[in-house]
Order: sequence, then C-alpha cells, then structure tokens
Amino acid sequence: MAGRSATGGYDPSGIDLDEWEILESQLEESIPNYDRVNTLMTFGQDSVWRRNVRNHATPGMKVLEVGCGPGSFAEDIENVDLTCLDPSGEMLKVARVRVNKARENRGEEPARYVQAIAESIPLDDNTFDRVFCLFSFRDFQDKRKGLEEIFRVLKPGGQLVICDAGKANWLHGLAGRIWMSTVVQLIARYVTKEKNHPWKGLAKTYSHYGTNGYYRKLMKEVGYERVQGRLLMPFGMASRFRGWKPEN
Ligand SMILES: C[S@@+](CC[C@H](N)C(=O)[O-])C[C@H]1O[C@@H](n2cnc3c(N)ncnc32)[C@H](O)[C@@H]1O
Repeated sequence: MAGRSATGGYDPSGIDLDEWEILESQLEESIPNYDRVNTLMTFGQDSVWRRNVRNHATPGMKVLEVGCGPGSFAEDIENVDLTCLDPSGEMLKVARVRVNKARENRGEEPARYVQAIAESIPLDDNTFDRVFCLFSFRDFQDKRKGLEEIFRVLKPGGQLVICDAGKANWLHGLAGRIWMSTVVQLIARYVTKEKNHPWKGLAKTYSHYGTNGYYRKLMKEVGYERVQGRLLMPFGMASRFRGWKPEN
C-alpha cells in the first residue's frame, strides 16, 4: 500500500496493522456510547441509513454482516438467516446478547457469530444472498482483500451493500474532516464526559478514507457488476455502494 509513512499508517486502500490494533481498541472503548454519539452526530440519520440497507434483503435470504460491531444494524434485520462477523470479541459479546434477544422476541432462530476480519473470512464460497457492511469498510486493514473475500462468499447473483462515510470528492471530504474534528469531538466529549474519548482517534478513519469514485473503481476491479456508489441525501453525510457478483 502506498503513502504509509506520509499518512501515519492510513491511506484510502487500508490501514497498517499497528494502527489498526489501536483503532480496534478505540472502537471497543466506544461501545457504551456508540449508538448515542452516532445518533447525535448524524441528526438521527444513522437509523434511516440502516433501514435503507436492510431493505436490500428479503425474507428467507442468507445474509452476512461484516463488521457487525455491537449489533446496531443486525438486531433489526428481520426474517433472514443471519451471520454476524467481527474481529473484536468484545463487540461480538455485546452483539450476541442484543441480536439474539431481538430475534427471540420475533420468534426467530439465533444468528451465527464469527470472529474474523473481512480480509480472511472463514466461511464457504458462494454462501450468501446479501453481504452488508455498515460503517466497517473504512476500518478494513486492506480494502481490496476485504472486497475479494466478500465476493468469494457471495452466491452468484448475490449483492454487496456498503454504507459508510460520505466523501463525494476531496472538497466534500474537507467539509467532513472539519465536522469530524469539531462538532463530533464536542458531541463525544459531552456524551462520554471524558476528555480523552475514543472519537479523538476514530476521526482518522474518516480523514484517510477515499472518495466514492475511488471505491467504485476498486469494486469494479475486484469483479463486481453494476457498481453504484453515491451520497445518501438529504445531508450527504454517508455514502452507499452496491455491486453484484455476476451470475456465472
Ligand atoms: C463502527 S463499527 C460498525 C458497527 C455496525 N455495523 C453499525 O452498523 O453500526 C465498525 C466495526 O468494524 C469492525 N472491523 C474493523 N476492522 C475490520 C475488518 N478488517 N474486518 C471486519 N470488521 C472490521 C470493528 O471491530 C467494529 O466492530
């Protein structure tokens, strides 16, 4: 990966291992306040974006969520055969309780939980109708490898949907960086009551995240068809990418 020394271990293609380990511990520290900070910093749009992604699955589908975190998306996806993957044991521990409880209340079987990174998914080829990544793609160590692994586990004709930070171009990215380094820091400080809250470090994943065009190109190179990637309106704070694995 290019540009490592200049960017402190981060670039649009990924994050080096040392920095990623620090990032993972910051993500784990964010668990108690994760949903509240997200809701405040996105004006409540996070739940709209999650619903938008959920609507890509229909009942009975086999669905994988890559980077499920504490289960904020997974708990509300109904009537699917669900697998939740995350590298963090702490995240999976919280997700398992939360997601299984919601599923049990709906009379559904528990989900499956897999501790792994997107770049090395310990699951069979051609397994899933849908793979969803919400706010985890920007944390991948190696984005191309993650996209390749997701492609491998998708069934032919299956679809990947990613929802992550919105960055239409570098100018839009600059506005996002200002937002992340000012308003989001104040919100996180207010919610956590801590000076050294984890969002201080988490802002880096936004700063070095690539543009929509960068990741559309990467998805096409990996082999996804009918690739789309655009800002979600009205605020343009998030982007949604979609791509299909060819039928043959
Ligand atoms: C910000 S949370 C997202 C949680 C959830 N998907 C949501 O909708 O809010 C990002 C998650 O991505 C996970 N993650 C980080 N690197 C990853 C990787 N290489 N492969 C898969 N997941 C990763 C983190 O452990 C974390 O739980």
